[in-house]
Amino acid sequence: MREYKIAAIPADGIGPEVIAAGLQALEALQQRSGDFRLNVEHFDWGSDYYKKTGRMMPEDGPEQLKPFDAIFFGAVGAPDVPDHITLWGLRLPICQGFDQYANVRPTRILPGISSPLAGVGPGDLDWVIVRENSEGEYAGQGGRTHRGLPEEVATEVSIFTRVGVTRIMRYAFKLAQSRPRKLLTIVTKSNAQRHGMVMWDEIAAEVAQEFPDVTWDKMLVDAMTVRMTLKPQSLDTIVATNLHADILSDLAGALAGSLGVAPTANIDPERRYPSMFEPIHGSAFDITGKGIANPIATFWTAAQMLEHLGEGAAAARLMRAVESVAAEGVKTPDVGGKATTQEVTNAVCEAIRSSNI
Ligand code: NAI
Ligand code: MG
Repeated sequence: MREYKIAAIPADGIGPEVIAAGLQALEALQQRSGDFRLNVEHFDWGSDYYKKTGRMMPEDGPEQLKPFDAIFFGAVGAPDVPDHITLWGLRLPICQGFDQYANVRPTRILPGISSPLAGVGPGDLDWVIVRENSEGEYAGQGGRTHRGLPEEVATEVSIFTRVGVTRIMRYAFKLAQSRPRKLLTIVTKSNAQRHGMVMWDEIAAEVAQEFPDVTWDKMLVDAMTVRMTLKPQSLDTIVATNLHADILSDLAGALAGSLGVAPTANIDPERRYPSMFEPIHGSAFDITGKGIANPIATFWTAAQMLEHLGEGAAAARLMRAVESVAAEGVKTPDVGGKATTQEVTNAVCEAIRSSNI
């Protein structure tokens, strides 16, 4: 029996609803497979914990997480706690503290879910966006001087390091190489940004030498939005900076149908620390407690987690179950259905139990 230690942090809003759904699907997979075991420990960190203790997680929170093989995360954010406290108090310290520098965001139109793009269906849009998750525009460099005065100045400095760019390029080329089309698009803005982005391009070309079987091309980020919209079939694996990928992956999520189906993985490829798996969406106050949160994003990130742990067969089984249930029309309201979170979850668990491969 292969065993893994999983830290579940459901946190706020619909986080606990979708993480509960994800854990039910993972339980069904363990029973179906019979050869691996996830030992899940729950952490009650988040906004309620903050209201009781003044902190989003204990001071030694990251230390407590270190021995785990992976972190299964819901969402943070509460209407009565400022967003920069919730985000910087829990999610970002984990991403940055554990150097989860590759943020991997698969996007695909699932059967039964329609894209807002006319004439585009499953198979036409099948991408993985790799976002640099440790530096670039979100490195936190900069400051403000003469606050509130007419001569006030603010700087927000992008940081690109040779180490940071090389490691994300290598990760993206490897991922592209592992996918059938072996196709990588490097997003840049080196026409206007002559330093960091030109180094980004140069390093991409250097790393490309290590991957002669991967076809790659380069797109300026503005033109990339047009290509994603008009020629989704021409893309496969995509790598972009922290800011560019943040924006492009929201577009990708919308083109694939809904935020409720979009997953993400924050990966430390060197496996020095646990990686973190989460749906892209937030805590969704407007539907919290109504029992209608779409659990698909969480199922999909659970599949990414299984893949990362080396349980590829279970990951594939989970995605087949999700696709067959979506194709049958058992869907939550955000993707045009009438089912509840629990009904979708039951259908996915049933599809897992009855699958013959
Ligand atoms: P949100 O992602 O929570 O919700 C945006 C819209 O999408 C809402 O109408 C919501 O009902 C819908 N939605 C989201 N997930 C859904 C699901 N699984 N099923 C069905 N519908 C779904 O973003 P919003 O409203 O901007 O932020 C709410 C809170 O979440 C804020 O405090 C924000 O800071 C936080 N947030 C946290 C994130 C995280 O933990 N990674 C990411 C994004 C926002
Ligand atoms: Mg974003």
